[in-house]
Amino acid sequence: MTSLALGIPTIRRDPARMPSMAGRPHTDGLVDKFGRVARDLRVSITEKCSLRCTYCMPEAGLPAIARDDLLSAIEIGRLVGIAARDLGVHDVRFTGGEPLMRPDLVEIIARSSEVALGASISMTTNGIGLDKRVDALVAAGLNRVNISLDTVDRDHFSRLTRRDRLPSVLAGIAGAKRAGLTPLKINAVLMRDTLGGAVALLEWALENGCRLRFIEQMPLDADEQWARDNMVDAAELLAVLGTRFELTAPTREDPSAPAEEWLVNGGPGTVGIIASVTRSFCADCDRTRLTAEGTVRSCLFGDDETDLRSLLRGGADDHTIAEWWRGAMWGKQAGHKINADDFIRPVRSMGAIGG
Ligand code: 5AD
Ligand code: SF4
Repeated sequence: MTSLALGIPTIRRDPARMPSMAGRPHTDGLVDKFGRVARDLRVSITEKCSLRCTYCMPEAGLPAIARDDLLSAIEIGRLVGIAARDLGVHDVRFTGGEPLMRPDLVEIIARSSEVALGASISMTTNGIGLDKRVDALVAAGLNRVNISLDTVDRDHFSRLTRRDRLPSVLAGIAGAKRAGLTPLKINAVLMRDTLGGAVALLEWALENGCRLRFIEQMPLDADEQWARDNMVDAAELLAVLGTRFELTAPTREDPSAPAEEWLVNGGPGTVGIIASVTRSFCADCDRTRLTAEGTVRSCLFGDDETDLRSLLRGGADDHTIAEWWRGAMWGKQAGHKINADDFIRPVRSMGAIGG
């Protein structure tokens, strides 16, 4: 088995060597050499998922992370506290895999919201089982959810996700709305198979008061089927949506928000387009990521990771952990080079990083 099949990068920063801080200004925040400041933390908490979307997971799922290698709820809470208190993070989003696969998710959210100092606490989820847990999650401090849904056609859904679970996802969406997590954002990844259903999906979203955002598929599928020549891009999607809707004036609420919002039929409904490949927003990226095993990943596409788990478990104090995190982000690369000839896919797939 190759390291790719494992989805775990071979290149890890030596846990005994602090990442270089040469040239870094004295500031508490997570600055990098390109003048960006990361304030948005994505925390992957599991590699497990109840679906097997072809653009993300292999058919058999990702190899299980040993229980001892996963950060515990206490460890996650500690790192979220350091991020919010010492590093200027003001948005914390839990991802996976599928966060709902963690039985201790309520504890993770509760511990995090206790130390997050007003930071927003959100989660990206496929919605399966959310209806049953959403009230406890909101009570624990969850502020927002993004739900992934690529099609409202049950057959397409089954093929794309390799599971016949569309009704469970729709129940999850209804549950989130009932719990007041509105306006609900829906993420749809663009695939050639589902492009034909884009109009129906947008109609459904408008009828159900959801804010739909289409995302260009990135080369982060475990099966390595992604090909630049075959990917559906934002322009193609806009042409398809344009046959049914009148779309006007894209606006970006803030430059680091990746979605361009188009007004649909004069509003108030909108549709967002995240052109992660054809209109990269790397220059405004404000993300820092933690993997489920406790490494900092400065960029989705950067395989060099910095291990905070060994520091945590070795008894390091908050100050030391914060310094390592700053060092990891100082070394963040300029961006993905998907459109360049020398692009190299990252070793981890999306399910092993967290979106
Ligand atoms: N390209 C773009 N988005 C992806 N996601 C998963 N894999 C990919 C990919 N290859 C999205 C999911 C979800 C979020 C976690 O990331 O659909 O919305
Ligand atoms: Fe940020 Fe890296 Fe994603 Fe670009 S590719 S948006 S730099 S995480």
